[in-house]
Amino acid sequence: MFKKLATGAAFALAMIPAASYAAGGGEQHITDYAFSFEGPFGTYDRNQLQRGLQIYTEVCSACHGLKLVPLRTLSDEGGPQLPEDQVRAYAADNFSVYDAELDEDRPAKPVDHFPENNNAGAPDLSMMAKARAGFHGPYGSGLNQLFKGMGGAEYIASLLAGYTGESKEEAGTTFYENTAFPGGWISMAPPLSDEQVEFADGHANDVEAMSQDVAAFLMWTAEPKMMARKQAGFVGVLFLTVLSVLLYLTNKKLWAPHKGKD
Ligand code: HEC
Repeated sequence: MFKKLATGAAFALAMIPAASYAAGGGEQHITDYAFSFEGPFGTYDRNQLQRGLQIYTEVCSACHGLKLVPLRTLSDEGGPQLPEDQVRAYAADNFSVYDAELDEDRPAKPVDHFPENNNAGAPDLSMMAKARAGFHGPYGSGLNQLFKGMGGAEYIASLLAGYTGESKEEAGTTFYENTAFPGGWISMAPPLSDEQVEFADGHANDVEAMSQDVAAFLMWTAEPKMMARKQAGFVGVLFLTVLSVLLYLTNKKLWAPHKGKD
């Protein structure tokens, strides 16, 4: 049994460096951004999520879907928290869905989900921030997440801001050099450019700022209940602490009459 465990552990340890170098190409560079939702008490920044939503809508939705995300959740507490009438208007203005009963497309409603992606090569982004929590593929070790609090949001922000401007063509496809993408070349053209999206509050709209905003939004789509989960965890720890103290005192009290006697 022990031998089996030990071999397993040794194998797992051996896999970790292999995973980081598996990509082969240039070194993968991921920046450790300080997101508002990190740490045991971190929460999403509502304004940042709203900016991220705007960037997704104006830029990314041209290729990427968010098919697992119901539009109505945009008004949920802890999320972008748009007022319900705004969600209704947002859904109707931006998306249309096929309605089997009407046998035609109609404007989207809050009960619908964001549409699926409509660009063959572009993956759905609903869960991307979690899928890339260990940075890439099933081989990501997740160690960075454990020790530095870095995860999918950092990866996505680094990816969007990581283009070098170089590109090459291979077998009829253009690849763009990117310092965050494993292997160093991605087929997604740089989606963001400075001042591409105008925010109502005049917030910074350079590539670096927008990359973080949309990454935070995608973290929310992948984990909308993160705040509730952290809260439950905190209450759990508090409860166990109180219980430990009570058990300790009970134990002391129960044994007190027998102590000190031979
Ligand atoms: C013109 C279409 C297009 C637009 C616009 C676009 N993407 Fe992409 N995206 C792609 C394609 C194609 C891929 C697959 C690239 C590959 O695997 O080489 C991709 C891949 C990705 C990935 C996955 C990378 C990985 O690790 O596999 C992420 C994350 C992503 N895009 C985020 C975004 C965000 C955020 C935006 C908006 C700011 C955006 N994309 C805009 C086409 C697009």
